[in-house]
Amino acid sequence: MHVSLFLPIALAFSLSACSDQVEDTRPGQPVKMRQTAFKEMLRVFEPMGTMLRDGKYDAGKFEALATDLISKRHGPWGNFGPDTHYPPTKARPEVWTNLAQFNEGKVAFLKSTDALLAAAQSKDLKRVTTAYFTVYDHCQSCHKEFKTK
Ligand code: HEC
Repeated sequence: MHVSLFLPIALAFSLSACSDQVEDTRPGQPVKMRQTAFKEMLRVFEPMGTMLRDGKYDAGKFEALATDLISKRHGPWGNFGPDTHYPPTKARPEVWTNLAQFNEGKVAFLKSTDALLAAAQSKDLKRVTTAYFTVYDHCQSCHKEFKTK
């Protein structure tokens, strides 16, 4: 099991890292849009982790959050158009130079959120925990390759 990963969850995604000084002045603000969309995913995703970490699994609440994550999971991707690597982005250039791998990571992430919702609907804590950390791993592995710190 991934029990040893429980603590790093809250630390790994810090919203405090998002206080950018540089403004996105481009039309449509694609960088700002995708960053906001990621933050919205995090706001749903993090409380699920907190629930599991604190041993306070509430099947109804968890399922509502998993459903909410499904509704937010498509938010960022349409804002990674060509020629959108500019400040204040935290994306690495590899998003565009290694687009096939980036897209693979995205598809794997999307699939894992389907599995998370199915697990949440089963209300089986063990299944929920495994599914949650699988999604978590997809967030992390993409950030490792494609996001600066
Ligand atoms: C396929 C790749 C990929 C996946 C999967 C992914 N991210 Fe990201 N994420 C990125 C990239 C790239 C950025 C940087 C965007 C930018 O600054 O332009 C980012 C940025 C962020 C940010 C910072 C936003 C800001 O304002 O700087 C947060 C928070 C975040 N992601 C949370 C998550 C969470 C939570 C998940 C999983 C539920 C996730 N991400 C899944 C690629 C990914």
